[in-house]
Amino acid sequence: MARVLSLVLLLATLASILPPSASQAATRCEYPRHAGHGYKHPVGVRKVVVDAGGAGDFTSIQQAVDSVPVNNTVRVIMQINAGTYSNKLDHERARREKVLVPASKPYITFHGAGRDVTVVEWHDRASDRGPDGQPLRTYNTASVTVLSNFFTAKNISFKPRSTVQEQTK
Ligand SMILES: *[C@@H]1O[C@H](CO)[C@@H](O)[C@H](O)[C@H]1NC(C)=O
Ligand SMILES: *[C@@H]1O[C@H](CO)[C@@H](O)[C@H](O)[C@H]1NC(C)=O
Repeated sequence: MARVLSLVLLLATLASILPPSASQAATRCEYPRHAGHGYKHPVGVRKVVVDAGGAGDFTSIQQAVDSVPVNNTVRVIMQINAGTYSNKLDHERARREKVLVPASKPYITFHGAGRDVTVVEWHDRASDRGPDGQPLRTYNTASVTVLSNFFTAKNISFKPRSTVQEQTK
């Protein structure tokens, strides 16, 4: 239940940073000139392609995020091709596949191919074991954590697989 709540919070957070009108215009300047609080316009646009099947620059979203330099000043549009970006192989990979956008990397955009076809899906339960053998706590199970400013996402969905399974039991 707590995990479901944290998902709701995650989605609420995403929703709050993704007003529909703003998300339509991510390739243009979606921020007013006087947005205040230190907003600096990115100095250009770089596009990278994430493709789970290997047809892009990266096969995982985290690899693409990792490629962005610290103190990034460019709007980086990550075209995330249709696919399920999941963590089905094993628990070690599962944790690595979770997406973390650090505070030092502003101006990142996730641009999926469509909400139904570009899906970040994760599988873990609070009872799964962490590297120390202890059960993972619920707060370790969010799949996408965005700590940076000026992040946008569109046409992509994020969903926990295990929650769906639990609900249908
Ligand atoms: C990034 O910016 C911070 C704050 O200005 C600075 O302290 C840090 O050294 C910078 N890091 C790099 C790698 O440029
Ligand atoms: C979003 O995805 C839909 C298909 O689900 C596509 O028709 C539309 O062009 C996409 N919009 C953007 C901005 O990528």
